[in-house]
Amino acid sequence: MKPVIIQPPQVDWLTGAFAQSKILSKTTRIADLAGVFADTSAWQESDPRQAVYDVEMLDSQTSEGNLFTGVTHLHPGRVGSEFFMTRGHFHSRREQGEVYFGLRGTGFLLLQPESGKACLESVSPGSVHIIPGYTAHRLINTGTAILSALAVWPTIAGHDYAALAQGFSLRVTDVEGKIQVREVQNG
Ligand code: PA5
Ligand code: NI
Repeated sequence: MKPVIIQPPQVDWLTGAFAQSKILSKTTRIADLAGVFADTSAWQESDPRQAVYDVEMLDSQTSEGNLFTGVTHLHPGRVGSEFFMTRGHFHSRREQGEVYFGLRGTGFLLLQPESGKACLESVSPGSVHIIPGYTAHRLINTGTAILSALAVWPTIAGHDYAALAQGFSLRVTDVEGKIQVREVQNG
């Protein structure tokens, strides 16, 4: 009997571009990120159509036991002095973890456990980030080029954005060309 040889999806490690016919994509723009950036007036003055990040995902089986695979392309930019970032979330199934791999660009992965102190991991090409369960996560682009990161997570994990309506406890800003990290109460 002839063995079955399957051609798997391919990713370009330098850009994070998937080569497969069925890719699901979603763009998140400034207009979608109400309440996410600290400086509300600067957010209101920003172009609402400006893309902040694009997520491209493989079309995976969604039943329990399967994994989603996606690449986030986070554009460079700022709202006021705060760097562009993803909305960030806990998983609805809090115990579920996730892995991120830095592909291009530079920035941070902000990790905020349900109980305990938030921290930042440096993201760069080749960095591997193990996000444990019970930990909210957000990407921040502190560079001048696109930051792309590949992520793999259980299909049952789900996204809980509401739990972070108060914001994360660390804010990352550009102060006269220097990256500044500030601890804040309730976002
Ligand atoms: O599953 C993940 O953690 C990522 O694929 C994110 O969903 C992606 O980076 C977009 O971020 P968010 O879901 O916080 O808008
Ligand atoms: Ni996640």
